[in-house]
Amino acid sequence: MTATAQAADLIDGRVPLENIRPYALQMGQTTWDDPFKTIIPKIHQGPSVLYSPGAWFEAGDAWVFTKEEDIRAVFMDTEHFSSKGISPYSSLVGGNWGVTPVESDPPAHRGFRNVLTPLFTPQRVAELDTKMRGYVRGFIAEFSHKGEAEIMADLAARFPIAVFLELFGLPMDEVDQFMAWEFDLLHNANMTTMGDAVRAVKQRLGVEMEARRRNPGNDFISHIVHAKNNGQPLSDDDAFGLCFNLYLGGLDTVTTNIGWQLRHLANDLPLQRQLRANPSLIPEAVEEMLRAYATVAMFRTCTSPVEVGGIPIKVGEKVIVSTSIGNNDPAAFDNPMEVRLGRQQRHLGFGTGIHSCVGARLARRELVITLEEFLAAIPEFRIAPGAKILTHLGGVMQQDCLPLQW
Ligand code: HEM
Repeated sequence: MTATAQAADLIDGRVPLENIRPYALQMGQTTWDDPFKTIIPKIHQGPSVLYSPGAWFEAGDAWVFTKEEDIRAVFMDTEHFSSKGISPYSSLVGGNWGVTPVESDPPAHRGFRNVLTPLFTPQRVAELDTKMRGYVRGFIAEFSHKGEAEIMADLAARFPIAVFLELFGLPMDEVDQFMAWEFDLLHNANMTTMGDAVRAVKQRLGVEMEARRRNPGNDFISHIVHAKNNGQPLSDDDAFGLCFNLYLGGLDTVTTNIGWQLRHLANDLPLQRQLRANPSLIPEAVEEMLRAYATVAMFRTCTSPVEVGGIPIKVGEKVIVSTSIGNNDPAAFDNPMEVRLGRQQRHLGFGTGIHSCVGARLARRELVITLEEFLAAIPEFRIAPGAKILTHLGGVMQQDCLPLQW
């Protein structure tokens, strides 16, 4: 039986057969086009719900909703949907830990989330400003005189890793090692390589967790290993799950947004000029580009029967929640492809509901500082003529390079 025929059996008429379609943003696929200008508008020309065989590597088939309101509803609905098992990492190495809190459900989620919230207060994020600015300036100074740079490698990948090492109190000379592990965890389809990277990160962070238990500092690892969850110390597995979530959650996401935002400005010279002339508009521009270039997609598993967008979803079925699709729904955002200052509309770039991004304040600051420093140091820039940019689709949509010239 073909995948489509099998799917037709499973969905028993809940959507017409022509709505059984491949998921166009599927993990492992790539495109030479800008998916925000090509694939996503095309998705919105189609039906508001698809059933996609093999949509999400390990999860198999999934429902894909394309209306912002349906995607938002699934994000919000922890009564009928679970976040458990959304990553392969723990099971790959025979572990019993989850990536926490992103893979935990209520009521456990709240206790884990409460451990992390104090790490991202306005004051704690503001304290990092000078250091973050210093890192960005340092990276830009290495290429500003050259008249060109490959932004993903020279800036976008390096900066969030530097921030992570700073937050975790780890030595800066481990940038390359943590970047290599990150690549093996997030951009590699070979499960053996991925498993090796999980074991290596677990081993490396385990050493530091042990050291901070004895000698605490003012860093995230010390905070986590000494934190209490509902009055009880965290288990080793839970403490590692929290550290691992911060490592994975804060790197690729920021990297990819730096890439999309600089690519947008390279193509949108009026906005680039406006922000140079008036840098106080940068936070608003960053927010609007976080909307227009939302890159993250997650999935949920249905735990009790529920209807979404008029479709009854059965227990055990998966639903993809794509912020890229939701934030570009023309029913929710007028002419969504246009980056337009002044929209001031809530969006799904950081998710919504109990799992909404705990690091959002830090992420926004990283992006604002990057644009401020980039525009201050680099004259009018554009994409290098003839550049071919490959985008990897999936959980975090990312360009493999961004060659800019000025
Ligand atoms: C532009 C950058 C970022 C984007 C677009 C982003 C996006 C997201 C999204 C969409 C979620 C919701 C996941 C879900 O509902 O399943 C999320 C959760 C999360 N993010 Fe971020 N994120 C970013 C940066 C960061 C940073 C810098 C950190 C930490 C250093 C971080 C840590 C987390 C954690 C721990 C969660 C799980 C929260 C929970 O389950 O309660 N993220 N992020």
